[in-house]
Amino acid sequence: MMNFVEKSSRYVMRTYARQPITFVKGRECTLTDSTGKQYLDLLSGIAVNVLGYGHPKLASVCRKMAKSVWHTSNLFEIEGQIALAEKIAKNTLDGKTFFCNSGAEANEAALKLAVKRGKTIAPEKDEVISMINSFHGRTLGALNLTGQEKYRKDFPSLGNIRYVPFNDIKALEAAVNSRTAAVFLEVIQGEGGINPVTADYYSAVRALTKKHNALMIIDEVQTGVGRTGTMFGYQHQSEMPDVITAAKGLANGIPIGFMHAAPHAADVLTPGTHASTFGGNPFVTAVANTVFDIVSDKAFLKSVQDKGALFAKELSALSSSFSFIKEVRGRGLMIGVELSVSADNVKTKCLEQGLIVNSIHDSVIRLIPPLIISERDIERAISIFKTVFRSL
Ligand SMILES: Cc1ncc(COP(=O)(O)O)c(C=O)c1O
Repeated sequence: MMNFVEKSSRYVMRTYARQPITFVKGRECTLTDSTGKQYLDLLSGIAVNVLGYGHPKLASVCRKMAKSVWHTSNLFEIEGQIALAEKIAKNTLDGKTFFCNSGAEANEAALKLAVKRGKTIAPEKDEVISMINSFHGRTLGALNLTGQEKYRKDFPSLGNIRYVPFNDIKALEAAVNSRTAAVFLEVIQGEGGINPVTADYYSAVRALTKKHNALMIIDEVQTGVGRTGTMFGYQHQSEMPDVITAAKGLANGIPIGFMHAAPHAADVLTPGTHASTFGGNPFVTAVANTVFDIVSDKAFLKSVQDKGALFAKELSALSSSFSFIKEVRGRGLMIGVELSVSADNVKTKCLEQGLIVNSIHDSVIRLIPPLIISERDIERAISIFKTVFRSL
């Protein structure tokens, strides 16, 4: 008889390098695998489980929805969707929202909106600027936006996307012109290695897109839903973008994504130009409304800022004992630890010690824990890091 790892190799397409572990229980920030081993989770399903595991309010709303209408399609009005769209508008750009199921889909929608809007202004206004080292998803449009050649090389190119170096204002000035339909930007590059945008670069994107009547589109898929200590990452900056996209944490693991456009760009997509069968259905929006209410609370967001600052401070303090820690960066509970030793090796050793972390490009440890993580769990994580770092 095949064990679950062998069965997975046989039946599940190998698009991921998976750990031979399966989780059977979760409580707050702790997961238990099928052998009974416990893990402190600093990955949260890749920045998704913002309220951790087994949150009582989410369990209760899911139980309620299980007995109600789960799905009706977007051919009818959906009360939970309307309520969520209103919350998003009031907390962000005061425009309108399109609902979908993932980050890639949210970016596809934003790309279509930007190009369609551009072409109505001038037929040649269809160029999109994206950042080198960015990540926007794996579907073809989102993949084309992704500024990492290694992900794109085997697939078709849309031909209208240019990549510029992140945080390089001169290169941006040279690239944006009257043919630019939009500039896509992450306020902290997540998959790219936890690289925060500088305030000057953010302002330059805003000024140049305004000057050339292009859209400034912020991909909040990873930085959104409280991750950086504000509801959305752009809210640390002084100016607003035209469009935001989000997904990941919004329904704590039930798939949802959205694109929100400010009023001046909110009516570009009309019936027949874009759609999603599942997008924003009654079940997922009931969960997302609950998550939104909890996370957007001022005290909750302040706690993310405080815990993020504590975690970053404790990690930085480790660098006096371990010289291979080159930098600790990020914001809120989105933290990158740059190492001069193999981050993959550190990740594996942490896992052995019951700590789940992620590594990027073999040089950065990415920490994106549930936002409900306690100070005690942060101390526990630091203690495991010390054990692992001593063993290197
Ligand atoms: C910034 C950013 N955009 C888009 C995506 C793609 O999201 P999804 O995997 O939900 O399609 C990701 C996923 O990691 C992301 O980090």
